[in-house]
Amino acid sequence: MWIYLNDRFVPREEAKVSVFDHGFLYGDGVYETLRAYAGRLFMLSRHIARLYRSAHRIGLQIPLSEHDWPALLDESLVRNGLAKDPNRPDHDPQDAYIRITVSRGEGDIGLDPSLCPRPTLVIFAKPLTPFPPHLYERGVRLSIVPVRRNLATALPPSVKSLNFLNNILAKQEATKAGAFDGLMLNAEGALAECTASNLFFVRQGCLCTPALACGILDGITREVVMSLGREQGIPLDEGAYKPESLLEADECFLTNTTMEIMPVSEVDETRIGTGRPGPLTRRLQSLFRHNLPRLLS
Ligand code: PDD
Repeated sequence: MWIYLNDRFVPREEAKVSVFDHGFLYGDGVYETLRAYAGRLFMLSRHIARLYRSAHRIGLQIPLSEHDWPALLDESLVRNGLAKDPNRPDHDPQDAYIRITVSRGEGDIGLDPSLCPRPTLVIFAKPLTPFPPHLYERGVRLSIVPVRRNLATALPPSVKSLNFLNNILAKQEATKAGAFDGLMLNAEGALAECTASNLFFVRQGCLCTPALACGILDGITREVVMSLGREQGIPLDEGAYKPESLLEADECFLTNTTMEIMPVSEVDETRIGTGRPGPLTRRLQSLFRHNLPRLLS
């Protein structure tokens, strides 16, 4: 495995980061998770734009220009055998999981970012481990967890930061409840998002999703699903919803880059709709697949 570390590709064994890195010491940094389909990156420019937005919000200067990324990410795929090979035209590379991490960098103990003269940048690309097909066929169970989503005025969920403990605590609660994932409410008790995905549900034909103002990550898959819905004239509502609206929903699903559209069949002890993936969920899944080629670089 070849990993890009700061300014060059190194073998995995040589990809070492200092114990004084503020990403390690304080969770000070940002990241992105991307996906490549047979070597082609999904919504690349949106991911890079979000990386820069997150970095800007925490006052972190990324040591590359936005234009440098396509070639660098392509090289990560090529070096790891995850891109098309011109010498093997019939070979379809596996889908890939790509993680970009930019931390504040190495510096003395202390919270002041000026202690760290140079950010640490890491990119790795590895074969994607897909979610098992039976989850898409049956739908997953969520648990509404006691842990609330971070206040946007404390650590904004719109920043994809390395400080992921809010989500990790929620994940632990979900695991305790035997659920696939934990659904977090915000401080006002409105639905927010899951630990690594956005939430959608369907009520009387209307596709509903918590608004960004509820304090969530502006998911790129969320954005794609919303625009596919709009193109199809499907009624769409972004709002602040109480959990009861979800429990009375006809359908529910989650979105993120690695899972695409994952049907939800139960929330705690409540069955959603028929307890099977619903017709609008199925329709959006097939629209997503159908439109995928135009969303890839
Ligand atoms: N997670 N909400 C949270 C808290 C997330 O961490 C993610 C992404 C999403 C969905 O965003 P997108 O559609 O852009 O992937 C929503 C990724 C997969 C991760 O953390 O690895």
